[in-house]
Amino acid sequence: MIEQVGVIGGGQMGSQIASLSAIGGFTTHIFDNDIENLSSKLNFAEKNLENLVSKDVYDEKHLENFRQNLHIAENIKEVSENKTFMIEAVVEKLEVKLEIFSELSELTNEKVILATNSSFIPASELAKECRHSHRFINMHFFYPPLRMDLVEISYPETTTKDIVERTQNLGKAMGRSIVTLKKETPGFIVNRMLAALVDEAYELYDEGIADFQDIDLAIKKGLNHPLGPFEISDYSGLDIHYYAKLKIYNETKNPDDYPKDFLEQKVKDGNLGVKTGKGFYDYKK
Ligand SMILES: NC(=O)c1ccc[n+]([C@@H]2O[C@H](COP(=O)([O-])OP(=O)(O)OC[C@H]3O[C@@H](n4cnc5c(N)ncnc54)[C@H](O)[C@@H]3O)[C@@H](O)[C@H]2O)c1
Repeated sequence: MIEQVGVIGGGQMGSQIASLSAIGGFTTHIFDNDIENLSSKLNFAEKNLENLVSKDVYDEKHLENFRQNLHIAENIKEVSENKTFMIEAVVEKLEVKLEIFSELSELTNEKVILATNSSFIPASELAKECRHSHRFINMHFFYPPLRMDLVEISYPETTTKDIVERTQNLGKAMGRSIVTLKKETPGFIVNRMLAALVDEAYELYDEGIADFQDIDLAIKKGLNHPLGPFEISDYSGLDIHYYAKLKIYNETKNPDDYPKDFLEQKVKDGNLGVKTGKGFYDYKK
């Protein structure tokens, strides 16, 4: 089946997920309620793609597909019109996603797949109050989607086999390796494993066992990881780590789950990592 793809949310993730879909040969529409941001993210994706073509990661045909198949829609109705596969990639706020899925479930028929790229919200949470819960699924890409060759798929018990297979097929047609989980879990495989690594790195640093630069070096050289846990934190944003820990603490009330003082201080100072020019490392130099 040739999917017609609609993407809602054109930030860091959505813009490149839509790009991947267009590159894969699928007619794709994208909608974001911040049109300026969407345009700049799509320009960025195109520049990236041109660069990747020059490095032979993609070829000219892919660039042509991107230019031919990707279209901007003006609202949620337009982005979902005649679509068979919807991917949501808006901000990680449950109430925003719930509103979008409740609207989508009314606008689309029961054969249309409703996928979310959320990193932590399982599709079952989003399906609860919507029509046709059998078509909800998590399709989790990695930043930057144009480069990162992985999609994690997970799905609620109510989701049917054909929906899972179509999602796997779309991910493969976008040129990505697919890992399908047997059960839902917030954070899937990679973010759960990463959280464990980062937590332990923060613990070592907090205990004064080593400097963060040396912990990063040890992980890169000793485990052959391309980035150390503090570099990863800077790239993904220290606020993301801080609020994720705070959320866990608010649920458990266990003091061990409270974000480390050094992390809290950096967030209070606005040193959020690469995006602000400074986090653990200084990127302004
Ligand atoms: N950044 C990552 O590394 C990463 C990796 C995997 C998954 N995710 C997930 O992808 C999703 C998006 O993350 P991101 O990093 O692209 O965020 P982002 O802030 O870059 O983009 C979010 C976009 O959603 C738009 N938006 C907000 N409300 C909207 C609405 N009602 N209708 C239409 N558009 C709306 C915003 O204008 C913004 O452009 C989140 O659920 C996140 O958990 C992020």
